[in-house]
Amino acid sequence: FQEKLRQQHEESMHRELEALLSTANKVEAEKIFHRFLQVKGPSVDWPKINRPPEESIQPYEKIRAKGLPDNITACLNKLAVVKLNGGLGTSMGCKGPKSLISVRNENTFLDLTVQQIEHLNKTFSADVPLVLMNSFNTDEETKKILQKYKHHRVNIHTFNQSRYPRINKESLLPIASNMGMSGENAEAWYPPGHGDIYASFYNSGLLDKLIAEGKEYIFVSNIDNLGATVDLFILQHLMSQPADRRCEFIMEVTDKTRADVKGGTLIQYEDHLRLLEIAQVPKAHVDEFKSVTKFKIFNTNNLWISLPAIKRLHEKNAMDLEIIVNPKTLDGGLNVIQLETAVGAAIKSFDNALGVNVPRSRFLPVKTSSDLLLVMSNLYSLDAGSLTMSKKREFPTTPHVKLGSSFTKVQEFLARFENIPDMLELDHLTVSGDVTFGKNVSLKGTVIIIANHGDRIDIPAGAMLENKIVSGNLRI
Ligand code: UTP
Repeated sequence: FQEKLRQQHEESMHRELEALLSTANKVEAEKIFHRFLQVKGPSVDWPKINRPPEESIQPYEKIRAKGLPDNITACLNKLAVVKLNGGLGTSMGCKGPKSLISVRNENTFLDLTVQQIEHLNKTFSADVPLVLMNSFNTDEETKKILQKYKHHRVNIHTFNQSRYPRINKESLLPIASNMGMSGENAEAWYPPGHGDIYASFYNSGLLDKLIAEGKEYIFVSNIDNLGATVDLFILQHLMSQPADRRCEFIMEVTDKTRADVKGGTLIQYEDHLRLLEIAQVPKAHVDEFKSVTKFKIFNTNNLWISLPAIKRLHEKNAMDLEIIVNPKTLDGGLNVIQLETAVGAAIKSFDNALGVNVPRSRFLPVKTSSDLLLVMSNLYSLDAGSLTMSKKREFPTTPHVKLGSSFTKVQEFLARFENIPDMLELDHLTVSGDVTFGKNVSLKGTVIIIANHGDRIDIPAGAMLENKIVSGNLRI
């Protein structure tokens, strides 16, 4: 009876998708919904999880010790850089693509990326193209902006990821048709996670085009990770592998701190390296998963992937990425689910996959305005689109910054600082409530500033706060 119900459901789903989607989207969307309905229970069997064998996660220093390629230009010419650009800036209170938020000296994430690759191409007389994976949410606005890079020394390509219909949590049918929502209603659709890159890249024709141009690897990363620059040592490692032991996939991982406990980790599972995401972990094991001692590293989402391998695996339909079920409540209160996949989950399907434990500096994501404050400050210096920690900082760790809700939106955040304080000697900053900072403020050690409801604190221009707690009402 259950099986019959399932079949009936798949048939209705098939009819709905038929009406809603274009051909390429439809095939992929059907596959994921089919798997979702088929698979019951957790995607991992906890006792079967093992720590990855030592040789499968190599320290970066070991990769670096092998040196740079003899012919850097030739190696670079086999590479394309892919930035995941499907996401919006909503969590930072911005409309439009996240990549178009200004993060440093009026430069957006996209500006910095273009500058980095242009610098690489100029320095080594190379031709590394930039590929942006856009979504229906970001494509139009991104393309308008691309005009401005026309005269830069970097070829920019774009392709669009899929657009899948959101599913009603109760009926498990697309809300676009089922709930009387029109097919054009933006709320009825979602970009199905960055794991969609494989199918969309293939279907766009760009994968074949790049292979025909002699490209062998892509370096994929989140566009909001300012530390994700092209690393020539990792590139050399990939290029120097013997043909019969080609490493088809490198995942850059880094040591977990308390701030990263939710990040995906690498495990050994049924003789393969696998990415384990928190969403796949049975409730009873979540604390174990978060522990910094048991799972020591997490995925930075900086990935190096062989192009011919993507083609081979896609054509063999051999990449069954675990489905992440993402429940959401829409503005009107409707409960929906989104079926998503993650790009790193494909690691298990590639031959000779490897984790490389990279320095923390390769993971510099800007997810919140607290992150933004750090990257805008004098803790970092900017050179050819790359941010590096200032040599003037005595300890190489970043301060712990926690800005309250009045700083969440980028516009409000910017209005609260006349300029960004000197943070070279800062260890910890907590700010809460209605607080503003005058020009040339200096923050050192541990600084806590709390304006209670109804109060306002203006930190005066030129103030130096060292190991201080400021609270109450302080207006200037
Ligand atoms: P997110 O910001 O949504 O993810 O996207 P996260 O919280 O860092 O966690 P992970 O990395 O998914 O574990 C990360 C990058 O992926 C892009 C976003 O634009 C961002 O650059 N993205 C996300 C897509 O391109 N498409 C999607 O469907 C989702």
